[in-house]
Amino acid sequence: MNLPNLNDARKRSNKEVKRIDYKLNNSYKNIGTNKTYHVKTYGCQMNEHDTENIEGLLDNVGFTKCDDMEKADLVILNTCSIRENAHNKAFGMLGRLKHLKEERPNLIIGVCGCMAQEEVVVNEILAKYRHVNFVFGTHNLFDLPRLIYENMDNSKTKIDVFSIEGDLVEGLPVRRTNTFKAYVNIIYGCDKFCTYCIVPYTRGKQRSRRMEDILNEVRKLKEDNYMEVTLLGQNVNAYGKDLDEGYDLADLLEKVSEIGLPRVRFITSHPWDFTDRMIEVIKEHKNIMPYIHLPLQSGSDKILKLMGRRYNRESYKELFNKLKEIDGVSITTDIIVGFPGETEEDFNDTLDMVNYCKYDGAFTFIYSPRVGTPAAKLMEKDSLTMEEKEQRLYKLNEIINNYSLESNKKMEGKTYKVLVEGDSIKENELFGYTETSKLVNFKGNRDFIGKIVDVKICEAKSFSLDGEIVE
Ligand code: SAH
Ligand code: SF4
Ligand code: F3S
Repeated sequence: MNLPNLNDARKRSNKEVKRIDYKLNNSYKNIGTNKTYHVKTYGCQMNEHDTENIEGLLDNVGFTKCDDMEKADLVILNTCSIRENAHNKAFGMLGRLKHLKEERPNLIIGVCGCMAQEEVVVNEILAKYRHVNFVFGTHNLFDLPRLIYENMDNSKTKIDVFSIEGDLVEGLPVRRTNTFKAYVNIIYGCDKFCTYCIVPYTRGKQRSRRMEDILNEVRKLKEDNYMEVTLLGQNVNAYGKDLDEGYDLADLLEKVSEIGLPRVRFITSHPWDFTDRMIEVIKEHKNIMPYIHLPLQSGSDKILKLMGRRYNRESYKELFNKLKEIDGVSITTDIIVGFPGETEEDFNDTLDMVNYCKYDGAFTFIYSPRVGTPAAKLMEKDSLTMEEKEQRLYKLNEIINNYSLESNKKMEGKTYKVLVEGDSIKENELFGYTETSKLVNFKGNRDFIGKIVDVKICEAKSFSLDGEIVE
């Protein structure tokens, strides 16, 4: 048993990260023969990409993917810890799986992802969810074949979670969800320790992949005719800082751009690490998409300080204005309301920043205390009721939605390049995204899926655009 420990996870060593190539042990080669799997994903893009690796690992040892969880022989929950509701969803699913296992005792159940890194979660699984076969963390995903091999017939729940990151494993098998757009990790972990956030504990120390490994992966995508690559990290702007190679995100973006995929994206950027050179590189390369996700979190200097965000209203605005100079750019953000101690005045400061920035869109959240993080200890300062927090969120969303609509309205009557992704939820329509990551629905032939087409915008809404193909 290796049990997680958030206290250990906080530690950061100077030990050099070893980079090793993935190699499958031959004993596990056929463990999935005649068996099916189903993976449920609850988290961010990094979590989604982990699922692509999990599925790749499973394909590699003979399992077959099954879309129907009820019928699968192996079910894996790839969980997220970021807010309470993500927790609740995963535990709800564990409850459902208990019934499924009563009906089918041979069902194998695995739990992984960020929740697996938390001792409160693992203790609860051990106490109440004994039908789980094994739990593994974010640092030993590559070890999945061994875990299945050793635990599929085991009646005891095996916990194999490491709190401190190990080697950086290159060359993991991957089953990509799409044939035209792909995620590529560039940096793992996070060292920012924003006081509300669990990620630095669940994902460990900041570790950049070597540029050559990333470029090789992107070159392969180009050979396979991919149209779009998204470079992933909890804070991509810190790329390279932990290496002694003298390169950073600006250099990486330049090199990835030169490979020549039609679209290069990156997410997420912490305002603290954004350099002028990165902005120049984005401006200079037409295939680097003019879309920046720049989390604000709060517009109050007092709250930003309590959050440990390392910027203030003024420095954020200064950066925002520089980014606005990128041709046709769209900028979105994340905002938290109801952080402990947030007064009406602090909240008004947030609204004031939103009115200044007029974002193209935003993800907004009510603060959710995470066990083990410094902000959770500030909860005694929390004087707001849930209803008051919901009212703040509602007010904020109203303002944000108006700005989204305003920015979308400006697109009406104009034509934009759209990468067509698939069937829209609107009947008989397709959907895709503009270069600025705006969702567009339009009528068209399914042959367009995976291609970039010109779409004229007919009607703008807050969250999407309706358009028609320009032949
Ligand atoms: N690395 C990214 C954030 C990943 S988490 C970044 O720094 O931009 C995505 C968003 O979830 C965060 O930007 C934040 O707005 C929100 N979030 C994180 N922890 C939270 C918490 N404890 N309660 C509410 N929202 C939270
Ligand atoms: Fe969390 Fe902050 Fe790191 Fe983002 S930068 S993952 S919010 S600690
Ligand atoms: Fe969730 Fe972990 Fe991502 S907490 S947001 S899955 S890094």
